[in-house]
Amino acid sequence: MTAKKEWIDVAVDALNKAYVPYSHFPVGACLVTKDGKIYQGLNIENASYGLSNCAERTAFFKAVSEGEREFSHLVIAGHTPQPISPCGACRQVMAEFCEPSMPVTLVGDNGVQKEITVEGLLPYMFTDKDL
Ligand code: THU
Repeated sequence: MTAKKEWIDVAVDALNKAYVPYSHFPVGACLVTKDGKIYQGLNIENASYGLSNCAERTAFFKAVSEGEREFSHLVIAGHTPQPISPCGACRQVMAEFCEPSMPVTLVGDNGVQKEITVEGLLPYMFTDKDL
């Protein structure tokens, strides 16, 4: 199995673990560090809806809280015919921790894929260089 196929499997597996009693819209993520470690993310909702955390940010916060700072790839999976597009908040978190050229793979049902980069998702991004 290629590394990328493994990352996709990790993101798709997260769809089964997502805590989505309100939206019934599971999202999965697989965040890969530059030294090849993987962190799985899934969305976690709350009865107070606005507290819900997206799959991508779950993966970043797991990794960053373990001391990781350097990432090489992100896979995002949706249980949808076409790949889902990450929300604006998650794009800004990607901008914080990833190089603009970092690849992001979006995956839908039946393996439908779209390849993009962090900068492709968030052009003209606000970063520490603006401070
Ligand atoms: N969601 C994610 O997990 N990632 C995204 O990029 C888009 C939205 C979640 C949030 C909420 O639990 C559900 O999808 C519906 O919005």
